[in-house]
Amino acid sequence: MSLRIGVIGTGAIGRDHARRINQVLTGAGITALSDVDLDGAKAVKADIAPDAEVFAKGEDLIGSDKVDAVLVTSWGATHEQYVLAAIAAGKPCFCEKPLATTAEGAKRIVDAEAAHGKRLVQVGFMRRYDAGYRMLKQVVDSEIGQPLMVHAAHRNPSVPDQYVTPMAIHDTLIHEIDVFRWLLDDDYVSAQVVFPRASSHTHARLKDPQVVLLETAKGIRIDVEVFVNCRYGYDIQCQVVGEEGLAYLPEPTSIMMRKDARLQNPILTDWKDRFVASYDVELQDFISAAARGTASGPTSWDGYVAALSSDACVTAQEAPGTIVPISLPARPALYN
Ligand SMILES: NC(=O)c1ccc[n+]([C@@H]2O[C@H](COP(=O)([O-])OP(=O)(O)OC[C@H]3O[C@@H](n4cnc5c(N)ncnc54)[C@H](O)[C@@H]3O)[C@@H](O)[C@H]2O)c1
Repeated sequence: MSLRIGVIGTGAIGRDHARRINQVLTGAGITALSDVDLDGAKAVKADIAPDAEVFAKGEDLIGSDKVDAVLVTSWGATHEQYVLAAIAAGKPCFCEKPLATTAEGAKRIVDAEAAHGKRLVQVGFMRRYDAGYRMLKQVVDSEIGQPLMVHAAHRNPSVPDQYVTPMAIHDTLIHEIDVFRWLLDDDYVSAQVVFPRASSHTHARLKDPQVVLLETAKGIRIDVEVFVNCRYGYDIQCQVVGEEGLAYLPEPTSIMMRKDARLQNPILTDWKDRFVASYDVELQDFISAAARGTASGPTSWDGYVAALSSDACVTAQEAPGTIVPISLPARPALYN
């Protein structure tokens, strides 16, 4: 029988994940939808999931006997309550990032899942499912000796006016924070932020660009340029320097052109296009594990460590140049 999934939060990504599950992936179907904007949930029912029941309250969807597993794709501040309710109901739960908006909230989820004794939660860090990062990890694990340094960049052409300095960490760098822990099989011990000359395209409440310097437990040094008004495109760069060689994240596939006396490749401009294929792979992984009553992929612990590490980066933004230590409590056995 196909896994019956309920979606809480039917905005942009909730709708897109519902479409994936009903129209692209195998082994699951959407049987329930919920959103504080009931009309939004009804619209997704009409367009994508005609058989789904619409619930006014997310908790009622989680408790429904028509729901085997839950997708939490509502606003970040509401994730914790729904993930905790899914754990209490013993139902596998995919939660978009962030797992919670505070490290304390993420720790409550870790504690609840550890007490339950079996993994139920997958966090939506989709870069771990990207084909390019997977190829890079294979090379880093086997070809270039011990990794020593990482040089990376996360560039957006522009951001909305309400995007302010801490969002460069919580909304942008968060993906690098998670994917480098996975890529290097390591944890961070400190963070530092420095600000170069500001772009004239930014505003008073956004320092842009910024350089985040992370140090890992193994002594690897990572520098990430976050530049969200770079104008030219959406560009994710990653170069790992190992003791035997260098490895680069592949560029997205594109057609090279020779035209008008120029050699050129197009660059993406919309972040949604960059990792679109990885969302399919991550949700298919969720479906496979949830059908067995469990979860795989990025854990609650990963969500918690990402929250702690981001908090350190935001503290470092507030005192440019200061080295902010990052220390983690003992990892529960469930996540070893
Ligand atoms: N992994 C990624 O690359 C990625 C990409 C986009 C969004 N996200 C994350 O997904 C989440 C949703 O983002 P979005 O762009 O779809 O936002 P959105 O605003 O388009 O949709 C969020 C929906 O949640 C609903 N909602 C708010 N509070 C609710 C509550 N208490 N109960 C039920 N529904 C509620 C809103 O009405 C809205 O329909 C965010 O946490 C975001 O960070 C992750």
